[in-house]
This record gives sequence, structure tokens and C-alpha cells, in this order.
Amino acid sequence: MDHKPKLKTLIASTRPGRVGPLVGAWFREMAEAHGDFSHELVDIADLGLPLFDEPEHPRLQRYAHAHTKAWSRIIEDADALVFVTPEYNHAPPPSLVNALAYLSKEWGDKAAGIVSYGGISGGLRAAQALKLMLCALRMQIANDAVSIPMIGEKIDDHGRLVLEPAAHDAARRMLAEVGRLARRTARGQS
Ligand SMILES: Cc1cc2nc3c(=O)[nH]c(=O)nc-3n(C[C@H](O)[C@H](O)[C@H](O)COP(=O)(O)O)c2cc1C
Repeated sequence: MDHKPKLKTLIASTRPGRVGPLVGAWFREMAEAHGDFSHELVDIADLGLPLFDEPEHPRLQRYAHAHTKAWSRIIEDADALVFVTPEYNHAPPPSLVNALAYLSKEWGDKAAGIVSYGGISGGLRAAQALKLMLCALRMQIANDAVSIPMIGEKIDDHGRLVLEPAAHDAARRMLAEVGRLARRTARGQS
């Protein structure tokens, strides 16, 4: 790969009042400071994806709908993806599961990292469940991950997300691993 890998960070939650964009903005700063990637933040809420409505299996890529074609282009264009996901009922939010189901080959062989958040568990159960889905989609998942417990307590009176140094360290480690995986995958394909 002679260019910087293109990393896209996906904000998974879509509900009104969500904290996902705050976590996504924090991770964007980490990714841009890391310097190994060109980086883009993608908010699943902006895509306006309905509940999965493609008639054919996504691996055939015979998409019927403009929203699927647009989503496919966004993911096809990435070398690596980071999923910023909350935990809902010990699982990833339905908005993310839905967005994953829309595509198939586009995810394949891409490096992936996970930033999870929630209550005391830091979204770890959602992250584990998400890993199974990403494995099924043939993604190369970084072992290093970011997990943010008690997210509600980390937002100050000005609405800013304030995270401890351990979260910053975890993000840097994960970015380094995602970068290594992205370069290895690119070598395998060339
Ligand atoms: C439907 C729903 C289910 C939730 N289930 C869990 C859970 O199982 N574990 C947990 O730690 N937090 C849970 N939470 C708390 C969320 O992690 C917390 O509200 C977080 O801010 C949600 O992310 P969002 O603001 O980006 O939507 C749940 C929240 C919602 C709305």
C-alpha cells in the first residue's frame, strides 16, 4: 500500500439524544493524531437506511435501492473500519446490525477495530457479539480494543466527553494494530 490506509469510523447508534457522536468525535481526534491513516467519520444515522429491504443476498451485489448502493460505496472505499458502538441489551444496537446486514463482500478482508461503551461493562458484551458478526463477514479484527465504562458519568457540565488516559492509550494501541492489519491485508491482495 503506497498511500495511507483509509480508516472510516462508524458511529453505530442512531437514537435522538445519543452519545455516539461524542465518542465518535473523540476517536476521530485520536485517529487524526495517530497519523498513519487518512480518516473519515461516518454516522450511520445520516444514511437513512430502512430496515433491511434488499430482495437478494448482498453477496450478489445486485442492489435494488439507492440507499444500499450509497452505503456500499462508502464501505468499499475504506481500507479499515472502527465501530463505535454502545451496548443495548448486551448486544450491538439494531442500527448497526441492520447496517452490517446490507452488505457482504464490501466488509471482507478489511481491518476492524471496536470502541464500545455502556454501563459498568463498558459495552464488552456488545463488542464480543459484534466480533462474531464481523468474523462472519470475514473482517480482520484487532485484538486491542477500547472499552468505556459508565459513559454517562464521563460527560461534563458543558456536554464534553472527558476520558481517562487509559482510554487514550487503548485507542493508540488499537490504531497501531488496525494499521498493521490493514497493511498486511493490502500486501496479501497485491
Ligand atoms: C435500549 C437500551 C438498552 C441498553 N442496554 C444496556 C446494556 O445491556 N448494557 C449497558 O451497559 N448499557 C445499556 N444501555 C445503556 C447505554 O449503553 C447508554 O444509554 C449509552 O449511552 C447508549 O449509547 P447511545 O447514547 O449512543 O445510544 C442501554 C440503553 C438503551 C437505550
